[in-house]
Amino acid sequence: MDKLLVHGGSTLRGSVNISGSKNASLPILAAAILTGEDCIIRRVPDVSDTNYMIQILSALGADVERSSGTVRITCAEISDEAPYELVRRMRASICVMGPLLARKGRAVVSLPGGCVIGDRPVDLHLRGLQALGAKVEFEGGNIILTAPDGLRGAEIDLRGTHGPTVLGTDNVMMAATLADGITIIESAAAEPEVLDLANFLNAMGAKIQGAGTRRITIEGVKQLHAVEHTVIPDRIEAGTFMAAAALAGDGVTLRRVNREHLKAITAAIVKSGHTVTFNDAGDSCTIHRGENLQGVDLVTAPYPGYPTDMQAQMTALLATTPGISVIKDTIFPQRFMHCAELKRMGADITVDNGTAIVRGVTQLSAAPVMASDLRASAALVLAALTAKGSTEISRLYHIDRGYEHIDEKLLQLGATVDRVRL
Ligand code: EPU
Repeated sequence: MDKLLVHGGSTLRGSVNISGSKNASLPILAAAILTGEDCIIRRVPDVSDTNYMIQILSALGADVERSSGTVRITCAEISDEAPYELVRRMRASICVMGPLLARKGRAVVSLPGGCVIGDRPVDLHLRGLQALGAKVEFEGGNIILTAPDGLRGAEIDLRGTHGPTVLGTDNVMMAATLADGITIIESAAAEPEVLDLANFLNAMGAKIQGAGTRRITIEGVKQLHAVEHTVIPDRIEAGTFMAAAALAGDGVTLRRVNREHLKAITAAIVKSGHTVTFNDAGDSCTIHRGENLQGVDLVTAPYPGYPTDMQAQMTALLATTPGISVIKDTIFPQRFMHCAELKRMGADITVDNGTAIVRGVTQLSAAPVMASDLRASAALVLAALTAKGSTEISRLYHIDRGYEHIDEKLLQLGATVDRVRL
């Protein structure tokens, strides 16, 4: 298991390219199941989560080639049972369920367990697929969905107690592309990754309208065809580098970003006193660390609100920002594991009932810390950039699930980091 050694105190300068979005790539790769023809998907980040998805597709019988960020997938013959050994490694593998059901009339996927960011049920996914006519059974830890006579369009409200569901919306939208008739998803997730999936599906011949809003209409078609698509930039990777630049930078430029997708993150960074300047095209931005900094109050919310996936990184930034910040995660109220590790580095944080109260300290100090999940590990890397001394971050596989070559990108900006291979 690799570790990352981050030597605090270097100043970040220069520019870095942001990768294609992990969370857009995962359902788009799964959507290739919907056709027997070639799907060419560009800018798929080389991270372990996309590798798991490719392994799942291969195990299902897909022919997959990957080179320099481009993945070509052909699902000529495909099985309807996703292998447990691969599925259990990544919760997002649940998004093969909708496409398998639509293509094969049957899908067997192991029931995902909870994970460190909280209990992560799939009731909304199943509610949506049942509304399309699927029969749901549970056996030996698996979900078995069947629709021998095909799926039929329906009106479905996908709102849960914590708001809309991203992968649930994806699953129902993918299944509905091949259903008989019209499906309307109310309370749909409006994240840019859902819109990117809809654009991919429409380019395959699907008839989807309203993706990117709370109401999506899908008119079922008989079949889908070959497609070429380029994945959107990763707004969470961009946000993470924005936070790094605000913490330890002296003029850092991020290229290949999308200004529209970054509004809430930009607003939070600017509110804490830093400057973010976009070019006219909105695909590049430069962050300068501010001089008069202040704490901010943040509440995570579905898009276009402040993303839960940027909660931990912002907590790390605010840990050394003067003043008091209050951070509430309404989507995953248990997603505060990083706070215990940040406290070991000297942060002053109290977590209670889904809310962190952060009192900014002058400087953190290095300590051996442990990554608990993807975004928590990014938060630890950020905290270490300005901490006094060298921070050793273990369980680095968490960060490799979702950040493409993070150590190389940080080195490129002037950080002093070493990956220790054990
Ligand atoms: N929920 C239910 N029932 C369901 C599904 C979800 O109650 O059937 C609840 C969840 O427990 C949570 C809320 O609804 O409280 C939202 O969860 P959602 O379903 O939207 O999460 P997801 O689709 O499983 C995606 C991202 C996550 C991101 C969330 C929220 C991917 C692959 N994953 O997960 O990304 O945190 O949306 O925006 O797109 C990450 O990248 O680090 C990550 C965890």
